[in-house]
Amino acid sequence: MLKPPHPIARAAYSLAMSVNPNNHALDGGRASSAMEVEAVAALAKMFSWPQHLGHLSSGGTFANLEALWIASQLAPGKKIAASDQAHYTHSRISGVLGLPFVSVPTDPTVRMDLAVLEDLLQAGDIGTVVVTLGTTAIGSVDPLDQILALQKRYPFRIHVDAAYGGYFTLASNLSPEARRAYDAIPQVDSIVIDPHKHGLQPYGCGAVLFRDPAIGRFYKHDSPYTYFSSKDLHLGEISLECSRAGASAVALWATQRLLPYTHNGDFARGLDSGHSAALELNRRLASDPRFLAPLAPPQLDILFWAARAPQTRPTPETSSALAQRIFDEAAGLDLHLALATLPIRFFPAGSFPGHATGTVTCLRSVLMKPEHLAWIDPIWQRLDQATTRALQF
Ligand SMILES: Cc1ncc(COP(=O)(O)O)c(C=O)c1O
Repeated sequence: MLKPPHPIARAAYSLAMSVNPNNHALDGGRASSAMEVEAVAALAKMFSWPQHLGHLSSGGTFANLEALWIASQLAPGKKIAASDQAHYTHSRISGVLGLPFVSVPTDPTVRMDLAVLEDLLQAGDIGTVVVTLGTTAIGSVDPLDQILALQKRYPFRIHVDAAYGGYFTLASNLSPEARRAYDAIPQVDSIVIDPHKHGLQPYGCGAVLFRDPAIGRFYKHDSPYTYFSSKDLHLGEISLECSRAGASAVALWATQRLLPYTHNGDFARGLDSGHSAALELNRRLASDPRFLAPLAPPQLDILFWAARAPQTRPTPETSSALAQRIFDEAAGLDLHLALATLPIRFFPAGSFPGHATGTVTCLRSVLMKPEHLAWIDPIWQRLDQATTRALQF
């Protein structure tokens, strides 16, 4: 998941860094603190929140930690539920916070299984459901609209982990199911989005947003040696982290001025193009007998597929070994793919005769740069060449 920061972000970050502002207290960075407030408001506006409480963080892990910490304050001791494709950080954070964690299986389209979730909710001990919009491995989108509907029958909080996929709310070419999930975001309780993933920022820039500004009461603390210069809000008063790079806020703010978060703007078109690239690569993979495409087409700009030797009966073992060889050969051709071990149930029934359960090592690609769409032909040629070589092995 690498995307170079935009040149304006690099320039703004390095100019600000010469002062090295610290957004903990206002004295540490008056301008950079004001920029952070505006930059976070732009994120909240993108999700149609008229009011919010939020701040930048060092990344998605810490932002999710804060969201689950607030969840733990509101429903002490209750369980955190997240899908088995959610980022592993949620179970680790639950452990850090001393909260019980339950993993909800995904269905064959790699979205949280609602029937299982409802069974769990019936037991009455789930405090918060983490809904992932853009899973790390394959960019799948949980059915947020349907999970919200369950709130009519069961009391629970919804935290959206959109660290990877949040900006796709601006995309114009999502599938109808993904669009419905994104359109439901305004009704959730908290959101994490990482500008250092799809927001063209250098690392060290995540964000957490809460719909109800009143949760600020949980952050209340005193620091006689920190917040003395002004009655205005010091960002450290609404954040668990203390010192934070003000330069991150300056870079994000400057990028937002150049590339505002508007539907059909240049920034949104970059996201559309990554999704189109993933759909096109998936189309080619699905029609090539050397590959197995999953049941569900890519929801965002990440895709995965399995490998198979034509005219043979694929087993998870032979497929996984072939994927590893293609991965190695592709790297030799400067095509840098990834590997991911994923459940066989994500592929059409009978893809691995005699194997309905278990896992297979898949090839995976994250087409997150707008240039990827223009590069689909060379990418395909190299994949073709790498696969031919791997099959001769
Ligand atoms: C969905 C999701 N949540 C959380 C994280 C963790 O974010 P970070 O690596 O910025 O701490 C990631 C990272 O890839 C992610 O994809």
